[in-house]
Amino acid sequence: MKINENYLNLSNNYLFADIAKRVKAFKAESPMADVISLGIGDVTQPLVPAVVEALHKAADEMSMAAGFRGYGPEQGYDFLRDAIVEHDFHARGIDIETDEIFVSDGAKSDTGNFQELLSADCVVAVTDPVYPVYVDSNLMAGRHIVKLPCTAENQFAPALPKKRVDVIYLCYPNNPTGTVLTKDQLKKWVDYALAVDALIFYDAAYEAFIQHDDIPHSIYEIPGAKQCAVEFHSYSKTAGFTGVRCGYTVVPEEVILKSKHGNEVVLNSLWNRRQCTKFNGTSYLSQRAAEAIYTPEGSAQIRQVIDYYMDNARVMREELTDMGFIVYGGEDAPYLWVHTPSLTPSPGLTPNPSPVGEGDFADEGSSWAFFDWMLRSAHVVCTPGAGFGPSGEGYVRLTAFGTHENTERALRRIARKL
Ligand code: MLT
Repeated sequence: MKINENYLNLSNNYLFADIAKRVKAFKAESPMADVISLGIGDVTQPLVPAVVEALHKAADEMSMAAGFRGYGPEQGYDFLRDAIVEHDFHARGIDIETDEIFVSDGAKSDTGNFQELLSADCVVAVTDPVYPVYVDSNLMAGRHIVKLPCTAENQFAPALPKKRVDVIYLCYPNNPTGTVLTKDQLKKWVDYALAVDALIFYDAAYEAFIQHDDIPHSIYEIPGAKQCAVEFHSYSKTAGFTGVRCGYTVVPEEVILKSKHGNEVVLNSLWNRRQCTKFNGTSYLSQRAAEAIYTPEGSAQIRQVIDYYMDNARVMREELTDMGFIVYGGEDAPYLWVHTPSLTPSPGLTPNPSPVGEGDFADEGSSWAFFDWMLRSAHVVCTPGAGFGPSGEGYVRLTAFGTHENTERALRRIARKL
């Protein structure tokens, strides 16, 4: 029996599992500590009334023989796919058809699974720092990965790869840096993909948080993208579905790849084939819940929750900047990317008794050390930038998904400890 050796190339733990383990160890050591998490991007606000009502209604339907549903369509129910097409695309002047929408249990599964359709020798480009799922899922398949540094110097907008790549993962608004690409910047990528015959995997999980009118919500706002891009969407952050589970992927009919014999393969058909074999559809309840966010009441209600989180982002940006931190992101995204060496702790700071991460705070650049300091001194969890890739070193990510109260408490504690 032989294992897939590629798994041995993965780091020991998935980033957020690693952080959870460290936090658990700290809590065991300091049971009285009231730890506030601004680490994993998990939402804190309850489901909105329109969603709750839809869930109740769907549960009632399922409780009666006439309304009961078993396996649903692998691609998702048309009531949801049609609502997606109308509200997320047609309303923005983007021509996407129902058959191009595949409903799933969330963008994590689809961004992780989609690479299966590609040959193992495809060269994959990812931004650095990056959401670890893109890297890990391609490492599992044994692919070569090229990292495109996103730093303050290039305003977190990656440069085109020097050597041709087959696939590019882009996530905008970006996780983890919270920065965005303009239409012109995104067009550069679509033009590149069309010119070199590459495929773009565009993760739009945070598009609902965009505040500025000129920032693209979908890569299909860029001409030509329907020939070269697959787009992933999630309701996790948009509608508080991290526990409900629902998202969708757009695979335009126009994306045509080549087999090794030179035959044309329609990517949409291949993904459909894959899903029918490996996926039994998203639950009826989750899909009815997702449909509810497209009603006038539902969309107004989720907008209020998004505004609530973006209010946190604004307060965090302002207060951290006042404390002397250099802060990026948080304007069109629920993440803030905080430069850790921009502040040195005051001499009165209790030295780290036993650092959980590498090094100690004297090594100002180390994001794991900063994570450790935040946890031990302020009892606040952040995500170390280095966990998202080498260019994340010297940064931590903070999420705006806390409650107002905890966000303000966390900020007060950080300010006190500096
Ligand atoms: C994050 O914190 O980056 C996200 O919550 C992780 C995810 O969406 O899977």
